[in-house]
Amino acid sequence: MNLSTIEKVNVSGKRVFVRADLDVPLSETRDSQHETRKIEDETRLRAVMPTIEYLLGHRAKVIVGGHLGRPEGFDKSLSLEPVAKWLSIKYKVLSIKYGKRGEFDGWEITPDLFILENLRFYKGEEANDLNFAKKLSSLADVYVNDAFAMSHRNHASIVGITKFLPHYAGFHLAKEIEMLGKAMDNPKRPLVVIIGGKKIETKLPLVHRMHEIADYVLVGGKIAQESKVLLKEQHSKLTGKKSVLLVADSNSDKSDITEQDAENFLQIINTARTVIWNGSMGIISEKRKVKSEKNDTERGTRLIAKGIMESGAYSVVGGGDTVEFLNKLGILDKFSFTSTGGGAMLAFLSGEKLPGIEALLNNGLYHA
Ligand code: 3PG
Repeated sequence: MNLSTIEKVNVSGKRVFVRADLDVPLSETRDSQHETRKIEDETRLRAVMPTIEYLLGHRAKVIVGGHLGRPEGFDKSLSLEPVAKWLSIKYKVLSIKYGKRGEFDGWEITPDLFILENLRFYKGEEANDLNFAKKLSSLADVYVNDAFAMSHRNHASIVGITKFLPHYAGFHLAKEIEMLGKAMDNPKRPLVVIIGGKKIETKLPLVHRMHEIADYVLVGGKIAQESKVLLKEQHSKLTGKKSVLLVADSNSDKSDITEQDAENFLQIINTARTVIWNGSMGIISEKRKVKSEKNDTERGTRLIAKGIMESGAYSVVGGGDTVEFLNKLGILDKFSFTSTGGGAMLAFLSGEKLPGIEALLNNGLYHA
């Protein structure tokens, strides 16, 4: 893929807008006076640092933009302030200044580094509204997409903005494309794809796209729970090459897949030579911490993780929650490649064209 990275442009003295994956898992604790939000996994933030460092090192003025969660309008609990604080610690800044760039709120970390508030607080972002994209573009001279996990979304800070600014890929985005491309270039078989977690509307169509490339597609988590009948019906209608589809049942309180299905999945994973995995099999959030064997809702997901590690297969794992879980278990480094993307990774691997990447490949600018 012929993507131009930021090394292709002279950024010295220029204002550069970096779209980053800032959608990190957060936890909330509350006492009588304060509410504290803590970043539970830094993988996505660490991924964009080489790009930010490179730009600052080449005397650019950097504006970082991104989103958190799925707010409908302004929502204090989804403010990017914890990410601004995280950046301020990186740059050893004692306090961050709330400020503005054009019409946009955010925080000044250093005179050369500004982070915008959650872009999804603005209606125009998800609508890919061209007027909104134009306003955003007026903050910078150059646009850099380093948000692989968002590149399957047709949003203003991913697609629309490229119509107004010269656009480049950041280092992280370029690496994802290179590594995921290699993984799918003649993969060793059997190739097993495991899909779980939530975000059903994003993942449902991808289960079927995977039939063209995989030998087995194993589905667990909420998507299996809510769409088992539909998945099986759609599978029966597929023609041509189709992989074996297994959709797990959930246990009685719907918090995990059944022991039998975990066992069935493991038998297949054990034969795999390539595994692609996104999404948990059951509830893996900190709020429902494992307290006893009886309410161990993480069992299925843990077994799958262990099964992949022990299979010796080339393994690609991705997605915010899945990566956070493996990091907490201390086993993320046992996987061959970690993608920041969940839906984006599955879409890319299934051969879908991602709007964010297509926009970078298109060199035309729109002058309105
Ligand atoms: C993700 O976590 O997969 C990305 O941040 C995209 O988020 P979205 O599914 O809310 O668009």
